[in-house]
Amino acid sequence: MSGIRPTGFLHLGSYFGAVRNYVRMQEEFDCYFMVADLHSLTTHPDTKELKANVHRVLSENIACGLNPEKVALYCQSHIHETAELYLYLNMLAYKGELEKTTTFKDKARLQPDNINAGLLTYPVLQTADILLHRASYVPVGKDQEQHLEMARNFANRFNHRYGEIFPEPVAYNYGDDLVKVPSLDGAGKMSKSENQLATLYLSDGDELIRKKVMKAKTDSGPTEPNSPKPDYIENIFLLMKLVSEEAVIRKFEADYDGCTIRYGDMKKQLAEDMVRFISPIREKAEAILNNPGYLKEVMELGAEKARKSARATMELVREAVGLNYF
Ligand code: TRP
Repeated sequence: MSGIRPTGFLHLGSYFGAVRNYVRMQEEFDCYFMVADLHSLTTHPDTKELKANVHRVLSENIACGLNPEKVALYCQSHIHETAELYLYLNMLAYKGELEKTTTFKDKARLQPDNINAGLLTYPVLQTADILLHRASYVPVGKDQEQHLEMARNFANRFNHRYGEIFPEPVAYNYGDDLVKVPSLDGAGKMSKSENQLATLYLSDGDELIRKKVMKAKTDSGPTEPNSPKPDYIENIFLLMKLVSEEAVIRKFEADYDGCTIRYGDMKKQLAEDMVRFISPIREKAEAILNNPGYLKEVMELGAEKARKSARATMELVREAVGLNYF
């Protein structure tokens, strides 16, 4: 089980860091992937863009290979049982531990005029998402580790008080280090918020992709054979490893080691390989986005699957809590 923030616009980092994992997991596990639209209300009370963002994030995830027939792909707000489980879990969550959460402190600092209770109990809602399906594996990045630790605490507290209902959820990846996708300006990872020109979005047109790649920082090249690579050059090689063929990478490695590398040519090659990688995803996502009837079907099918699992869990939960009066 995992939640996807409906902030729109996936980029290459979200693809290699998250979506590719989901696509692998769908072949092996019984998966629930949810658009976290309720969570977004804690920071984005203005919902004018919400619908478009939800449609986009669904379209892009499907275009990347997530199969709505294989997994339950649904919207959080469509599963009302989530709100009920969230309420029970709120009675097991302490103000002190919620206030200590890093993401809460960060967001409170960013929106001092709207430190709402939903923001404080964000990890409780996330726990409800997970426990609703009694999920064991949660594919998330490092930034979600603390939330998952809290989810384990809440699950254990529930189990101790009311009986063993929930497995302990743990973060999941395929054992390989989470792939870090460097940004094109050599400063950190590709991410949604920072320098737009340094991030390749899966919605970028071919010309924009070329333009962004050609702008990547380089220098006049190594002067000594087999020199170590500066970070920004290493990054270009890292990006190439994601989308280019083995032989192409070997050629540029050899050129680098022999001091004959031409970065202009390397970037042209990378740009074309990026276009080849991104454009089919972009086109597929656009086609889905232009088909609201299909999106509705996807959401209905997903909600149906998620509700089935949610209802079964909530029967057990109400019984365990003692809300069975006849
Ligand atoms: N908090 C997660 C994020 O910011 C999104 C999320 C919501 C989530 N519910 C979840 C992740 C349940 C894993 C499981 O990315």
